[in-house]
Amino acid sequence: MASGKILVIGAAGQIGVDLVLTLRKEFGDTNVVASDIRVPAIPEIVDGGPFENLNILNDQDLLRVVEKHNIDTVYHLAAMLSATAEKNPDKAWDLNMTSLFYVLDLARAGKIKKIFWPSSIAVFGPTTPPIDTPQHTICEPTTVYGISKLAGEQWCSYYHQKFGVDVRSIRYPGLISYKSAPGGGTTDYAVEIFHEAIRHGHYTSFLKEDTALPMMYMDDAIRATIEITNAPADRVPIRTSYNLSGMSFTPAGIAAEIKKHIPGFTIDYNPDFRQNIADSWPSSINDDYARRDWGWQRQYDLSAMTEVMIREIRAQIAASEVTF
Ligand code: SER
Repeated sequence: MASGKILVIGAAGQIGVDLVLTLRKEFGDTNVVASDIRVPAIPEIVDGGPFENLNILNDQDLLRVVEKHNIDTVYHLAAMLSATAEKNPDKAWDLNMTSLFYVLDLARAGKIKKIFWPSSIAVFGPTTPPIDTPQHTICEPTTVYGISKLAGEQWCSYYHQKFGVDVRSIRYPGLISYKSAPGGGTTDYAVEIFHEAIRHGHYTSFLKEDTALPMMYMDDAIRATIEITNAPADRVPIRTSYNLSGMSFTPAGIAAEIKKHIPGFTIDYNPDFRQNIADSWPSSINDDYARRDWGWQRQYDLSAMTEVMIREIRAQIAASEVTF
């Protein structure tokens, strides 16, 4: 590892929790500074290494944290996701764009050396070829979140070309994890369904049964994130953002897989405003460029992911029921 340390912004979020824990295992607890405006629900994030309470919309505070800890790599994960952003367009635009500029400008000023910033399948829209969506294709997003991610990708590429900023990015599909819950996304149903299935044997989906979306198990997403950030610079020629594919399924498809483990499980469907968002996104993603350029390979398919989600959420529930 380089001389400086790593800063994770958004460490209390769905990706942040898993990323901090994995980075600390790989690079050492004291070398990974977790930061968030919220206190993380997982005590280990605060207790297991340095933690900073940071409002990413305060650039002076960001600079203070970077200088205090001698940071050279920033994983900037703080963002407002698709469903919440549709309800708060101004706030979403401000949070998603202003915070990105603060981090890009830190690198431009030579205060940090490297940035990871996530993009999303939300950069695509209804005019994008929806099956096996190519890396270079029509991107006409119809959500505030998608517009912010598409603009962000272009700014990353611009800062790279004009100012030599080393920024790397992935277009995450819907992410599925058990350690920390997602918040405000359209793909959140694919996490909620496990908790409801295990606790109540039933789930009401806010997406229609046949809505196929690209998804990925969190372990794959974290591995991809660390791999692209640490790949030699010449292995990362695309500085907008890379397509990344894990699996694709519908609510009916994941329900059938869960039923193999919980035979009495039932599902019904009550689509809400998130259906429109999902309908504008692709069903599956082509990630040939990520495979070719920096050696990406997914490990988890629907059945492997379902098995581990059910096992781990059952274990969490059992642990929380232990009384002293
Ligand atoms: N999971 C995100 C969302 O649903 C997509 O990047 O908003």
